[in-house]
Amino acid sequence: GGPDGWVPRDPRMVRLTGKHPFNAEAKLNDLFNQGFFTSTNLFFVRNHGAVPKVDLDMAKHWKVEFTGLCNNTSFSLEDLRTKFEVVTIPITLVCAGNRRKEQNVVQKSLGFSWGAGGVSTALFTGVRLCDVLKYVQPERGAKHVVFEGADQLPNGPYGTSQLLSWASEPNKGMMLAWAMNGKPLEPDHGFPIRLVVPSQIGGRSVKWLKKIELSAIESQHHLHFHDNKVLPMPVGPDQARVEKSWWYDPRYLIRDLNVNSAIACPDHDEILDAPPSNTYTLRGYAYSGGGRRITRVEISLDEGSTWRLAEIEYPEDKFREVAYDDTIYGKVDLTASDLCFCWSFWSFPVLVEELSKAAAITVRAMDEGLALQPRDMYWNATGMMNNWWFRVAVHHLE
Ligand code: MTE
Repeated sequence: GGPDGWVPRDPRMVRLTGKHPFNAEAKLNDLFNQGFFTSTNLFFVRNHGAVPKVDLDMAKHWKVEFTGLCNNTSFSLEDLRTKFEVVTIPITLVCAGNRRKEQNVVQKSLGFSWGAGGVSTALFTGVRLCDVLKYVQPERGAKHVVFEGADQLPNGPYGTSQLLSWASEPNKGMMLAWAMNGKPLEPDHGFPIRLVVPSQIGGRSVKWLKKIELSAIESQHHLHFHDNKVLPMPVGPDQARVEKSWWYDPRYLIRDLNVNSAIACPDHDEILDAPPSNTYTLRGYAYSGGGRRITRVEISLDEGSTWRLAEIEYPEDKFREVAYDDTIYGKVDLTASDLCFCWSFWSFPVLVEELSKAAAITVRAMDEGLALQPRDMYWNATGMMNNWWFRVAVHHLE
């Protein structure tokens, strides 16, 4: 078993916190070399506490309970599978702390140091949340859907919420999923069942899902209310620890991801040993939130004075043109949504000679909402949503 004593883990995962709980990302190179889909063993892991120990027998009897302002009922995995249409959808999850390391270098935030590997993509199989919500018939007055996991944390169970109007929207693609890449969820990723919320921060995708409450108010769970926020800059880490202060304002809540990109090739410590006349292809990823696509990726070799356009590739589109029939995964379907749920890849070929004269390689992306990655960091106490220009310095070896 692994650090929790029973979960086996891939040794290539870089551990970001002490032994427990387990939080890890793959090296950006390893992650990137996987291509569009991340194999489950290299998919980033963000656990706030111990992984609930669920064996096969417990999974068989596992129930997701609906309470509050709706028809109170519960579903086993088998109930969900048989009562609702089963769908498989490619979805990228991103931790709100992705790229936090760069923030912690400037000033220590409350969170641990993610590199740029707090992002991964998998095929998730389950049922649409909107279908299940329709079935339980939310009552008048229900405005929020509050989700709770089975993990026990110092400040109560893990939980968060969605606006009912968003959760009921088929286009948003929210799912109750029991499989990832064609296999039952791994314990680290929420076995036996989790919520998957595309295009929002990973923290909304509640693992080990036990309870769904239809409510007039948003989640009061500790991490929803006191943590997953981008607090205003004047609030320092010490102030941010003081609970129930004025700055824990619902408007600082994070829902959608923001526009972001990173350079994977070359990696920070990569040595380019190639003749000046060779071409080197710069590569990386880009994503945004709210289902918005990346519309341009720009590269600068002169610290942002001038920019050039990179090529963008959206492997996700393969699943969009036709409902894609995969021999392993069955029907893979994105045709039900116009929105974009996955990361894209960019590339830009450049002469080694030109690279060798640059001080740095810089990338920035823009999305459909015309949001552009900023030049300056928005440092904030929880260290979330860092998306300033991504930069790889070029050092000249003599
Ligand atoms: N769900 C529960 N029950 N407990 C958790 O600690 N972590 C959240 C979310 N769901 C968490 C959870 C956070 S912050 C993220 S980024 C994602 O799970 C990470 O999902 P993954 O570990 O499958 O990559």
